[in-house]
Amino acid sequence: GPCAVVIVAAGSGQRLGHGIPKARVPLGGEPMLAHAIRGVVKAGIATQICIAVPQDDAAMVEICHQLAAESGAGPDMVWNVVDGGTDRSDSVRAALAVIDSGVGTVLVHDAARPLTPSGVFDRVVAALRDGAKAVIPALAVADTIKTVTPAELPATGAGVEKVSGTPVRHLLRAVQTPQGFELDTLRRAHAYALTLDAAAAAQITDDAMLVEAIGEDVYVVQGSTHSLKITTPMDLLLGEAMLQGPLR
Ligand code: CTP
Ligand code: MG
Repeated sequence: GPCAVVIVAAGSGQRLGHGIPKARVPLGGEPMLAHAIRGVVKAGIATQICIAVPQDDAAMVEICHQLAAESGAGPDMVWNVVDGGTDRSDSVRAALAVIDSGVGTVLVHDAARPLTPSGVFDRVVAALRDGAKAVIPALAVADTIKTVTPAELPATGAGVEKVSGTPVRHLLRAVQTPQGFELDTLRRAHAYALTLDAAAAAQITDDAMLVEAIGEDVYVVQGSTHSLKITTPMDLLLGEAMLQGPLR
């Protein structure tokens, strides 16, 4: 059935540090957003593509129009460009506001994951078709992960952190996008988000967290190392290398 894809591209890219919004930073000579949009079109699962861009960023809007024009998608494809918000979740809500209500499912994807393979989109959509109301792609983690709490070194009182726990690694997953949802479930999750105070809202780092909070099951499918999120200069270097040749 009809499926909308939201691409959130309204972040500022502080950690990458290029002084321009991250989605416009070049990767292999083209803005990251161009790769992200092309990846969504190539996956062939979208009937509507809605991109949340930074407010007043005419260059970003132009990238969207260019990709829509070159996509070869027919007149049946609905394209929207909306102004994003302060937090990622504000940007998702801005996009949700223009999603056709006739669409049964919606995927939310980061422009910062420009090299996501079609197979990941396929697995997410397949799980939705098989009855999941929420689906996330994820990978096992390589590092051991600790939780920490503020502490002081015994002799000096110097402020540090100490370990408060070690979750069992084989139960941990690093989560990616696209995250897929039944439209009504994602709408309810984001309505719930609006009831949170600022401190609680600041801890929301993905859409699935909101769906968990309203008590719906979130299913997991296999992600991909190619879906890495480009956050730091080192990630960008890796992205450039991935474009040079196949990764095994
Ligand atoms: N995003 C968004 N609106 C925001 C914040 C983030 O649409 N207000 C998007 C980003 O454009 C990105 C994705 O959410 O595609 C993941 O966010 P992140 O990697 O944190 O990107 P930035 O917020 O741009 O980077 P930073 O946190 O380093 O500033
Ligand atoms: Mg951010």
